[in-house]
Amino acid sequence: MEIRTALPRDAADLVRLRAIMLEQVIGGPPSPQDMKIMEDYFRDWDYEDPVCLVAEEDGEVFGCISSSFNRLFPSPKNPSGMQAEIHNLAVYEEHRGKGIGRALLASILRECRERNVGRISLYATGMGRPLYESFGFSHEVIVCPEMRLYYRDLAGLDL
Ligand SMILES: CC(C)(COP(=O)(O)OP(=O)(O)OC[C@H]1O[C@@H](n2cnc3c(N)ncnc32)[C@H](O)[C@@H]1OP(=O)(O)O)[C@@H](O)C(=O)NCCC(=O)NCCS
Repeated sequence: MEIRTALPRDAADLVRLRAIMLEQVIGGPPSPQDMKIMEDYFRDWDYEDPVCLVAEEDGEVFGCISSSFNRLFPSPKNPSGMQAEIHNLAVYEEHRGKGIGRALLASILRECRERNVGRISLYATGMGRPLYESFGFSHEVIVCPEMRLYYRDLAGLDL
């Protein structure tokens, strides 16, 4: 099995794998509209940013993982200021339990180490948590809670 950077020819697999991952997060399959958004996205995407890796053997894709990289100012826990967010880990059900998820995560962590990333964060599904914990990820109590603004509200702001 080879782990390589995702290419435009992987678009259909990336849509299917992302739907599998989102199903765990939202508790059901993505809507047809959301599927269409993903199909359009992966058709037009530059395949450079975020970094996306796939596990493949004999032309068959088994799973994928991604990481976005972001530079912040240094902080006591992250002196390099380099931050990564790992996302989009999914393996097709029929190929699970064979170490593919572990190999994908190890590859993206190597990439993080090469980029001198000082802090890696992710949102874990119940299925992903044991794998992440086995690499040392732990739940962090965040003193300042994350705040979000979604586009539907941003679009309506009087700026
Ligand atoms: C999470 C997921 C990617 C793991 O992929 P995988 O290829 O099966 O993972 P691996 O075979 O490398 O196993 C990794 C770890 O997962 C856990 N695991 C795997 N299969 C398991 C099973 N049947 N029951 C319980 N734990 C299991 C174990 O902790 C295992 O560690 P080990 O290698 O020490 O045994 C896969 O289950 C998946 O795609 N789930 C749906 C999408 C999802 O939830 N993604 C995570 C997003 S945060």
